[in-house]
Amino acid sequence: MTRNPLMQSAELAARARQVLPSGCTRSQVWFAPHPPYMVKGEGAWITDVDGNRYLDLANKLGVLIHGHVHPDVVRVVQEQVALGACFAAPTPHEVALAELLQSRGPSFERIRFINTGSEAVDLAFKAARAFTGRSRIVKLEGVYHGSNDFAEVSNYSTPENWGNEPASVATVPATPPGVLDSVLVTAANDLAMAERLLSQHATEIAAVIVDPVPPRAGMRPLERDFIEGLRALTRRLGILLIFDEVIAFRFGFSGAQGRFGGAPDLTVLGKIIGGGYPVGAVAGRADVMETTAASVASSGTFTANPVTMRVGSGEHAAVDASSLHLTRCNGRAAARCTHPLFRRRSPADTGQWYRVGLFSLLSSSRRH
Ligand SMILES: Cc1ncc(COP(=O)(O)O)c(C=O)c1O
Repeated sequence: MTRNPLMQSAELAARARQVLPSGCTRSQVWFAPHPPYMVKGEGAWITDVDGNRYLDLANKLGVLIHGHVHPDVVRVVQEQVALGACFAAPTPHEVALAELLQSRGPSFERIRFINTGSEAVDLAFKAARAFTGRSRIVKLEGVYHGSNDFAEVSNYSTPENWGNEPASVATVPATPPGVLDSVLVTAANDLAMAERLLSQHATEIAAVIVDPVPPRAGMRPLERDFIEGLRALTRRLGILLIFDEVIAFRFGFSGAQGRFGGAPDLTVLGKIIGGGYPVGAVAGRADVMETTAASVASSGTFTANPVTMRVGSGEHAAVDASSLHLTRCNGRAAARCTHPLFRRRSPADTGQWYRVGLFSLLSSSRRH
């Protein structure tokens, strides 16, 4: 009888089902019958509890731009943990990372850190509301912006429930009606629809949030005319334009906005800016960020912890414009690769692991 090569993972999954709902604390990384449980990473490779090695195309959802266990990252983490992993006080490292980020985007005049991309989206919404004195947010249908209530509207709307103009559809059961009322939805690349919606509710809308390269809407960059039209429209109506670049920031040295344009008022960042450690940030116009800094508390026990800040600074110092260009070239080469893994089309016929991995590679390779 052949030995199950995932035996220890199967045993862990059985234990997990007794303590974690559906067997996994992150639904994103679970797939049937169970995922392999990882114990080690090294460069582009990861090893599971049964000793199987995998080429890690998931790359921690694109976070680990330098791969696993980069010696500089390990050194910095060890140094900082020996000095203190977190303080109830600022450290020089948050200033250094903010300076580095500021140097990467002309619209990043001020930066506030937080712990995740979802929290950063929330913080950007609050800042926009406080600055404009208006409470409604506009988002694009089918676009993911993390897991806060106001972001989780119309993530999976369908022709059956979106109506003539997209309705605000709950993603999570029993979403409070007030949340659905606060979030208006419009369709990507339909400037006429956005203009109708924004003009009709202009005095109530604080911000429009878009992901310039929305992954769940097919990783197709928004059309330039749409972004430019939205920019002009929001400016005219006194509405803030927020870019969610939690993923898209890796599209270029100045993120997607540097590559595809847009000049947002606020940008939400996360993932790669912490070099593999939990992070989120809002970067944007000095007047918006300064005026709202006092009224919009940005707390978080682990916010701007020195480990994340130091690793993030190291990653940024190492990622210059030419290395990002190289990453894109590698991504394009991978997308042309003839290996069957790269030729699979339907997410349904692949494991989630591969799906995420493929997504990760392709997302740095697509062109406008
Ligand atoms: C575009 C986008 N925005 C926001 C988020 C939320 O970030 P986090 O998972 O760090 O909360 C994600 C996460 O994948 C994302 O892809």
